[in-house]
Amino acid sequence: MKVLVVGGGGREHTLVWKIAQSPRVEKIYCAPGNGGISQQAECVPIKDTDIDGIVEFSTTNKIDLVVVGPDDPLAAGMVDALEAAGIRAFGPNKNAAIIEYSKAFSKNFMKKYGIPTARYEAFDNYDHAIEYLKHQEYPLYVKADGLARGKGAIFAQGFDVAASAVNDIMVRKVFGSSGDKVVIEECLTGVEVTVLAFTDGKTIVPMVGSQDHKTVFDNDVGLNTGGMGTFAPSKLYTPEVADYCMKNIYEPTIAALNKEGRKFKGVLYFGLILTGDGVKVIEYNSRFGDPETQVVLPLLKNDLVDIFEAVIDERLDEIKVEWENKAAVCVVAASGGYPEKFEKGYEIKGIEDLANETDIMVFHAGTASKDGKYYTNGGRVLGVTALGPDMAQAIDRAYKGIGKISFTDMHYRKDIGKKGL
Ligand code: AMP
Ligand code: GLY
Repeated sequence: MKVLVVGGGGREHTLVWKIAQSPRVEKIYCAPGNGGISQQAECVPIKDTDIDGIVEFSTTNKIDLVVVGPDDPLAAGMVDALEAAGIRAFGPNKNAAIIEYSKAFSKNFMKKYGIPTARYEAFDNYDHAIEYLKHQEYPLYVKADGLARGKGAIFAQGFDVAASAVNDIMVRKVFGSSGDKVVIEECLTGVEVTVLAFTDGKTIVPMVGSQDHKTVFDNDVGLNTGGMGTFAPSKLYTPEVADYCMKNIYEPTIAALNKEGRKFKGVLYFGLILTGDGVKVIEYNSRFGDPETQVVLPLLKNDLVDIFEAVIDERLDEIKVEWENKAAVCVVAASGGYPEKFEKGYEIKGIEDLANETDIMVFHAGTASKDGKYYTNGGRVLGVTALGPDMAQAIDRAYKGIGKISFTDMHYRKDIGKKGL
C-alpha cells in the first residue's frame, strides 16, 4: 500500500512512525512533513491546506490511503474532495468536522442532546455580548467561534478583560472570520483529560486517556502553548469514569451526530474536565490531538492501517483494539521565547545518540534537515516520548532522552508526567 499523511508536526511524525510499522505499507509520503519525518517518509512540498494539490498528488501517485492530520484541511473539506476523486481518506467529512470548527455549533449541539458541558451563550452581535457580560459571574471564558490555532479561548477574571476579548474577536477580528460569533461560558474547575476515540459513525472505540500540559512553564504557569508535554494513561480516567463517559458522552455524541445527518468517521477528540459536578466536555476536536498522539499511538498494539481501513469501511466493530500495559511520557523541547517571539535555524545536536534506544522515540514537530543535520524550524521543535513499565520509569527515560538533545535557547518543562504518578 501507498499511504500519504497530510500535515507536518509532531502528530504527523507519530502517525508516520506508527504506519511505517504496518507490514502492509510499502511506501509513505508526507505533505509537507518536516526534517524528522523525511527519515521515514518521502516529504512532498504541498501545503496541508492545498486541497487541489493533495488530490492531484494522490491521483497521480495512486495513493491507497490518505490520512489527514490537522484541523484546517478537515474544516475545508479535504476528505470530501479526496472521496469525490475516488481516493480512500481517513478523517471526517466537512459536515462532521464542524464539531471542532464551530464552537457555537458544538455548544448548541451538546445543549440540545443533553451532553454535559459548561453553561454558555453564543452571540453574533457585539452589543448583545457586551450587555450579557455586564451581568455575569467571573471568571469566565470568552471564545472565538471558529478555528484559532488553539488561541481562541480567553480566560477573563473580570468584565474589562472579557469585554476587550469580545472586542478583539468580533471587532478587531484578530482571528479573522473565526470571530464572526463569540461563545461566552462559565469557567469550570477540575483536571483535564483527553480521550481520543476511533469511530466509524456506528462503533466508538476510546483510546487510553492522556493529560496535556498547556502552559509554557512548570507548575502550570506562564502563557498557554500548543502543548509542552503529555502522559498516558491518566490514572484519574478510571474504568468507572470511562464507563460514565461512554454512556453519557461518547455514545450520545455519535448518536446525535447521526441524527443531525453528520456521520463522523475518523478520530473524535473529547477534551474532558473532571469537575466536582461530574465529567463535562470542554471541547470536541475532529482529529488526533497534538501532543496527545505522541503518547497514545506508541501504546497501541494494533496495526493502525487496519483500524483506519475498518473505519473507512464502517466495520470497526470487527477490530479488537488493544493497548500495551505500559506508561508513556512525551516531553516537548521548544525554542526559547515560544509561545511568543523566537528564533529558528539553530542546529539540533544529540538526536543520533537516541537512535538505538528501543523505548525512546524522538518525534519532530518543527525541524528542518539539511546535509544530514537537523535545525530548529518552529516554536515546538520536537518531543521525546519514552515508554516504561510504569509512569516513574517512563518519566525517567523521557528526561534521560531529552537530556541528550541540545540547541541554542532550548526550553522544556521539568515536571511532565508528575501528575500521573
Ligand atoms: P478551547 O479552545 O475551548 O479548547 O479551550 C482551551 C483551553 O482553555 C482548554 O483546554 C481549557 O484548559 C481551558 N478552558 C476552556 N474552556 C473552559 C471552561 N469553560 N472552564 C475551564 N477551562 C476552560
Ligand atoms: N492538544 C490539544 C489539541 O490537539 O488540540
